[in-house]
Amino acid sequence: MSDPTNPHIKERTTPQWGLYQRENFWKPNDGKIAPFNTDPAKLEERAKERLSEGGWYYASSNAGMSTTHLANRQAFYRHRIIPNQLVDTNTRDTTTTIFNHKVSAPIGFAPIGINKIYHPAGESAVAKVAGELNLPYCLSTAGSTSIEDVGAANGEGSPRFYQLYMPHDDELTLSLMTRAWEAGFDALILTTDTWQLGWRHDDVAHSNYAFYRGFGADLGLSDPVFRKRCAEDGIDPDVDVVQASSKWIDSVWHGRAWSWEKIPWLMREWKRISGGRPFAIKGIQSVKDAKKCVELGVEGIVVSNHAGRQVDGAVASLDALEKIVEAVGDKIYVMFDSGVRGASDVVKALAIGAKFVFVGRLWIWGLSIMGEDGVRHVMKSLLADLDILMGVAGFNGVEDFEKSILESGPKSYNLIPEKRKL
Ligand SMILES: Cc1cc2nc3c(=O)[nH]c(=O)nc-3n(C[C@H](O)[C@H](O)[C@H](O)COP(=O)(O)O)c2cc1C
Repeated sequence: MSDPTNPHIKERTTPQWGLYQRENFWKPNDGKIAPFNTDPAKLEERAKERLSEGGWYYASSNAGMSTTHLANRQAFYRHRIIPNQLVDTNTRDTTTTIFNHKVSAPIGFAPIGINKIYHPAGESAVAKVAGELNLPYCLSTAGSTSIEDVGAANGEGSPRFYQLYMPHDDELTLSLMTRAWEAGFDALILTTDTWQLGWRHDDVAHSNYAFYRGFGADLGLSDPVFRKRCAEDGIDPDVDVVQASSKWIDSVWHGRAWSWEKIPWLMREWKRISGGRPFAIKGIQSVKDAKKCVELGVEGIVVSNHAGRQVDGAVASLDALEKIVEAVGDKIYVMFDSGVRGASDVVKALAIGAKFVFVGRLWIWGLSIMGEDGVRHVMKSLLADLDILMGVAGFNGVEDFEKSILESGPKSYNLIPEKRKL
């Protein structure tokens, strides 16, 4: 829909995301790329130029030899979309529903820690854009802005969820959940694949851990229970910032595994605090674990391998999704992430059976390049990409993304050209 006078526009129920293409085409042709190229490989290149060495290593590092990251991308390349012709897509709708929120598209902001190492505007800028676009925002426990400030930036009524790294200190866990609920975060997502960061060569080699340098502990430093813990240890968090932020991150990525036995307690407490709002687990990759979630009454799972940053040599998240959907797709709300780089990837994941998709690195690169405007540009481009794809491939709504629209190659088939591995 590149003609803004198109009469169908009035009948459409979702914004004309596709018009963002026109807006960019009309920008002054002064030889500059305005605002910047959103091709994922170019985006990453540009972000690398803009970021500090530490910011770049933290954002780009994967576990081990990056083979899980590569597998994530290979899986997307193996599936191909079959476009339809002469379908009336003039009133297509990109919306979906997640945890009782009607949102603009089946796309959300994955939880990402320490945003201020990418841009001083940090989490607030990202949450603001998410609210504006009516896409769910997910705040990480490892965030570098307080829960309350992020809630305010995201805006009244905007869909937002809180991602918990669960400390081995129940009082602290309760405090974080209470603050999240009071600040308007109305679903809890527990990440279970990161008791400790995976072995990431670049970060280790460069001693790259912002928290041990006194940076990024804002959720802890603004927490009454954590401050009490600091006082018990003789640490003044306003003075001994390095010690306090090290203590904070060591209570979040503690290296001590939780097990299934703890989940009923966490669910019960979250339900008590929030009046029964949804609880989900992020990091599920096996059918066995997905079934366990169903058994325990968990409402949602995020099929995710943390962008390939935790277990090197693991299965592609998209391949895990396929099996998990087959086993429990009708019993639990299945979300997906890891490796999404464009609208076609969103469509493929939904066609395989996810109900919703989160993106991480895409918006990190936008934030790194141009702060709030950069995030907005990347996410509006992704929405336009989706809207246009639906228009030209004959899809009228997310319910049209089903298995029959995909053709899939053999698993052993590596179709990614060398320069596209990112
Ligand atoms: C730099 C970086 C930081 C991340 N921080 C967190 C985090 O704090 N909590 C979390 O649950 N997942 C975290 N993740 C994982 C994302 O939430 C998400 O699973 C992943 O980025 C999705 O893959 P994608 O980046 O390919 O879209 C992080 C990922 C990256 C790349």
